[in-house]
Amino acid sequence: MRILVTGGAGFIGSNLVDRLLADGHEVAVVDDLSGGDRANLVDAAQSSRFALHVMDIRDPALIGLAAEWRPEVICHLAAQVSVRRSVADPVHDARLNVEGTASVLTAAHHGGTRKVILASSVAVYGRPAVIPVPADAATDPRSPYAASKLSAETYLATFKALYDIDYTALVLSNVYGPRQSPDGEAGVVAIFTDALLKGTPTVVYGDGGQTRDYVFVDDVVDGFVRACGDEGNGRRFNLGTGVETSDRRLHSLVAGVAGAADEPADAEARLGDLPAMAVDPAPALEGLGWRPQTDLATGLKATVEWARARLSIR
Ligand SMILES: NC(=O)c1ccc[n+]([C@@H]2O[C@H](COP(=O)([O-])OP(=O)(O)OC[C@H]3O[C@@H](n4cnc5c(N)ncnc54)[C@H](O)[C@@H]3O)[C@@H](O)[C@H]2O)c1
Repeated sequence: MRILVTGGAGFIGSNLVDRLLADGHEVAVVDDLSGGDRANLVDAAQSSRFALHVMDIRDPALIGLAAEWRPEVICHLAAQVSVRRSVADPVHDARLNVEGTASVLTAAHHGGTRKVILASSVAVYGRPAVIPVPADAATDPRSPYAASKLSAETYLATFKALYDIDYTALVLSNVYGPRQSPDGEAGVVAIFTDALLKGTPTVVYGDGGQTRDYVFVDDVVDGFVRACGDEGNGRRFNLGTGVETSDRRLHSLVAGVAGAADEPADAEARLGDLPAMAVDPAPALEGLGWRPQTDLATGLKATVEWARARLSIR
């Protein structure tokens, strides 16, 4: 299959590219390298079935690229990914996530694409009444990022109605694993891992009791791969574990794997941080045959090993 991955130089996208190439597909990446890194694609670049196009997804040339290469499936991961940045600059967020998605879908139309798979976010649920959040829970976008992701989901349905392009929206919880940057705001595993391996201070906000649903990147990639067929057409699925892990517990787990002291500094709770989050993945089992395979201990070990090798810390 010919598969176009937008944002394929990023954390999740590059892991997806490696899996798609291993599965024998032809893969093209469109990424402007604003947040991603060519280094993530070093293995992929060895393959004759791989091409990287350094391009903004809003560039009209994307339409020409799709019309010529005719991807059967587009996995759309390129995005403005920061909730805080979206609050500081909602217009920039909308340009990338709304205009960008409209551009990708227009390219899909011109490329005769069968299906588009979108990386959406649990942010669309706002402050959920029930945890784990069911995939059919009411949406409640409380940040421009949440609003733009929800808008992107809406555009999928619009292009299905207009041009019969199939789609699946994958609502990702807190993804972690190799290649996640410690510079982002949300990559708590990457932030703790980087600091604990380097021996620099770590911080846990509030009482450390706030929870998140950590899902390993290989499992998320598997969700995209399963969605590339006709399974899950026209639906939204949560890709999470349903398991809540508190910040304080996560720190202990990462410190344990990294062989570092479990002594984070305390800090004031951050305004607007959600107290708890986990999503119900059950419909993804029924609709995609997907379930998370990697428990947190195993995933953290792989993540710390990768970071240790990258930092060349012995
Ligand atoms: N990491 C998570 O926990 C998480 C959770 C929910 C949703 N998501 C979504 O998953 C997707 C991938 O996230 P990630 O964590 O891999 O982030 P990432 O920043 O590592 O990857 C995003 C990629 O998109 C590229 N990009 C950004 N703007 C672009 C543009 N205008 N044109 C072309 N390329 C552009 C960046 O260079 C980067 O390589 C995003 O859509 C994000 O919103 C991630």
